[in-house]
Amino acid sequence: MTEETQEDQSRHFWNAAADDTSRGLVPGMLEEDAEFAAFRDRSEKSTLLRRLGDRLRPNMSLLEIGCGSGRWTVDLAPRVRRLVATDIAPRMIDLARERVRAAGLDNVELQVAPFEETRYDRRFDFVYLGCCLQYMSDEAIAVALERLAANTTPDCPLLSRDTVSTLDRRFHRSERYANDDPAIYRTADEYAAVMARHGWQAIDSWPTWVKPWAWKIVGHMPRVVRGAWLRLALWLTPLALRLSRPGDKQHRFFLYERRETPPT
Ligand SMILES: C[S@@+](CC[C@H](N)C(=O)[O-])C[C@H]1O[C@@H](n2cnc3c(N)ncnc32)[C@H](O)[C@@H]1O
Repeated sequence: MTEETQEDQSRHFWNAAADDTSRGLVPGMLEEDAEFAAFRDRSEKSTLLRRLGDRLRPNMSLLEIGCGSGRWTVDLAPRVRRLVATDIAPRMIDLARERVRAAGLDNVELQVAPFEETRYDRRFDFVYLGCCLQYMSDEAIAVALERLAANTTPDCPLLSRDTVSTLDRRFHRSERYANDDPAIYRTADEYAAVMARHGWQAIDSWPTWVKPWAWKIVGHMPRVVRGAWLRLALWLTPLALRLSRPGDKQHRFFLYERRETPPT
């Protein structure tokens, strides 16, 4: 029997996650607690939009890779002229399509496509990689970035959300956590190096969210106190991000700019 490639494993894992209503997973987030997932979603987005400032503009054409269930798509699309969102997992694109329809957006195009095989019919002004690099092999990342380069405008920013290893080496999630998630957690330096080889210079990076330590006790709180805690936690997010001490991995945004001449 032929062994599954990294990309096959990722497709199967995310297709299954999209359909996994038995564990009550929030699609695209792998969170089981819907209230916490909503908190995380809001804190990630408010941190990002504050940080991006006017880098995202209404006349832009935006490419989102690894859009999952479309939770970012519906927030980003109203801020740009056109958004093309892709994902390797067909079931994720089904969910994204439902979400886009419910939001009444008419400037979004959705495609089932692996990043490394995506064909482009236009140049993009902004690229967002939604935590998909960690599901790809080194070879697939190299092919994908090579193709992308020819399809971005000269001053196109690239924003990538990645879970990075805070150890001094990459590791497969399955090495340290007992589940079938095929993620590879590379170090931030590995990402910087591969991006630089393809002409992208890292200009900024920041943590996307942290699980507030007190979240563990929230589950035991009466509902009314829970709501108050959630509001407080959201308000304290910038402080929590500053004080956070990651364990073996951290969720980070990386912002890159195109460099005129890629290094040889
Ligand atoms: C961690 S999820 C994030 C989904 C979404 N960006 C979000 O934040 O809710 C990673 C997504 O990347 C997709 N993905 C994995 N490998 C990919 C590839 N080679 N090309 C495109 N998408 C990929 C998965 O199917 C999954 O939907």
